[in-house]
Amino acid sequence: MTNRLTGKVAIVTGSSSGIGQSIAIRLASEGASVVIDYVGQPDGAHDTLAKIQSAGGKAITIQANVSSIAETQSLIDQTYTQLGRCDILINNAGIEKEAAFCDVTEAEYDAVLGVNLKGAFFLTQAFVRRLRDAKLPGRIINISSVHEDMVFPNFSTYCASKGGMRMLMRDLAVELGSLGITVNNIAPGAINTPINTALLANKPKLNALLANIPLGRLGTPEEVASLAAFLSSDEAAYITGSTYAIDGGLLRNYHEQ
Ligand code: BGC
Repeated sequence: MTNRLTGKVAIVTGSSSGIGQSIAIRLASEGASVVIDYVGQPDGAHDTLAKIQSAGGKAITIQANVSSIAETQSLIDQTYTQLGRCDILINNAGIEKEAAFCDVTEAEYDAVLGVNLKGAFFLTQAFVRRLRDAKLPGRIINISSVHEDMVFPNFSTYCASKGGMRMLMRDLAVELGSLGITVNNIAPGAINTPINTALLANKPKLNALLANIPLGRLGTPEEVASLAAFLSSDEAAYITGSTYAIDGGLLRNYHEQ
């Protein structure tokens, strides 16, 4: 493993499980000091921490619900207090709730949009204000989804949140470019993580999905983490304003039979 991120501090939201956990581990393995943000899974956060520390990496855990503006501000403040700086923000925390459009409740809408879009929005704002004031560059990487672009019937709240994240990324890439801050999205397809627990238990549904994936398998969190590490590094210095799909070809799939 290289040391592309030595000296950097990175926040990874929702890093107590799934893609976020793998990204936290990977960034730490490349030399970053990592803030493991979590909400309801302290055991998962401590698992991430233990894995990083046993590999010789540096990390801390902070509990913050990104759908609360006060908690996003506190996450940034605590990061500066404990680690002195913050160079990389990975907006990974995300949830999805299945419901036919006509059945979606206000609570479901607020929960999904609150974590996936409002959370990324205001945490990014708190992150950027510090960099702007200190005249320092930075990296923002949103873990979006193929569903920032591709339809997902019965997941309208999720699609609305990820579509919003796509335009937020494009807008901020332009607005923050002069500050030396890059903004990009990673759009995972079907990845083997807890968000897909129900899908993995439903063989007919899983097989139907696999038939739509040209590479014929789910992705791994480590594969997504590898892309996040690259986009976080100096090697990606000239990349901003784009979405990088990592989906085994799902977005490009086409069949006549
Ligand atoms: C969703 C998964 C889904 C995958 C492919 C992801 O963004 O979280 O539930 O299986 O997209 O459709």
